[in-house]
Amino acid sequence: MTIYPSFNLKKISEYYFSKKNKELKFLEKKGNKIINLGIGNPDLFPPLGVIKTMKKASENENANKYQEYLGIPNLRKKFSEWYYKNYKIDLNPENEILPLMGSKEGILYTSMAYLNKNDYVLIPNPGYPTYTSISKLIGGKIIYYSLIEKNKWLPNLFEINKFNLNKVKIFWINYPHMPTGAKINIEELEKIVFFSRKNNILLVHDNPYSFILNDNPISIFNIKKSKDVSLELNTLSKSYNMAGWRIGMIAGKKNILENIIKIQSQVHSGMYFPLQKGAIEAMKFNNNWFFSQNKEYYKRRNIIWEICDLLKISYSKNSAGLFVWGKLNKKNDILWTNKILYKYKIFITPGSIFGSNGKGYVRLSLCCKKKFLKTAKKRIIKNY
Ligand SMILES: Cc1ncc(COP(=O)(O)O)c(C=O)c1O
Repeated sequence: MTIYPSFNLKKISEYYFSKKNKELKFLEKKGNKIINLGIGNPDLFPPLGVIKTMKKASENENANKYQEYLGIPNLRKKFSEWYYKNYKIDLNPENEILPLMGSKEGILYTSMAYLNKNDYVLIPNPGYPTYTSISKLIGGKIIYYSLIEKNKWLPNLFEINKFNLNKVKIFWINYPHMPTGAKINIEELEKIVFFSRKNNILLVHDNPYSFILNDNPISIFNIKKSKDVSLELNTLSKSYNMAGWRIGMIAGKKNILENIIKIQSQVHSGMYFPLQKGAIEAMKFNNNWFFSQNKEYYKRRNIIWEICDLLKISYSKNSAGLFVWGKLNKKNDILWTNKILYKYKIFITPGSIFGSNGKGYVRLSLCCKKKFLKTAKKRIIKNY
């Protein structure tokens, strides 16, 4: 007997890192010590006090119960205060914030809430692969908009305007941009909001890297009237090194968010109580915390730049986020990264997994301790 999976499933394949990790594990089993500059999985600790708070909360007599769908009120209140403190934005904790198990979950719910079969979605190329796979799973159609180095990896609205925008429902943007590290300023963001309003498209800003090596954190809601047309995803994964615990949020105007809540309330039954308490504790930490975390990332990035110099990779020094994005002097980034993996036992992500405009580029993660980065550098110098 054969039970066939859905047609939509055929449109996607296993996540690149899920597949690649199996290969890395296999190589490690054979005794190779791989230095992994692939995934953006923060190895630094969350702020002091978070784990203690979570441990204590796990003994709460209600910790084992289903939790509130919308998150505990104090968590929503804290997200609201955090937005005000860091972006000077007012969000009503009662109806403009929905805590989630990470932003990835928000990408799914937003797509499910707003896409009909054959609706179109504007997705950055290069960009986070999940926008594409989820849109396809729901039966949406993709229009990739080109991000190129010459245009500072910013959307070219003149070019986007040439597409038939009548059936476009969602426009995904993400700044500081992953994988390129490009930043956006208020004027550019304003133009994108204006464009989305004019074309009646839901603009979703995925904002996980605001506080990583970025002097000027921006929210989509810093733009006037943006709430009428946009949503924003945010997360504690990178800002507070809580990626594995899975906590983030989506924010937006009540009437837009309500449609997402409909789906979320069918899918989950609240988040683990200690995690919510831990998130509240983490968000008490702001400027000093980001400053000390970035101090470490600056040092790591310097070593990664040295690695890039050795490998003849060119890069921009004006970038933000958790990665260095570099250009090879060759076109085949997949072949090149495999060669580096087998020669130096260093794993670097090929740029083309983020879209065709990533071809010839590579992404190196800052989530690797300095001592391993120094070993990577030595391996390259010694030709291993
Ligand atoms: C652009 C982008 N969006 C979303 C995510 C997922 O974040 P979360 O851990 O909050 O699901 C990532 C994670 O790497 C990312 O790079």
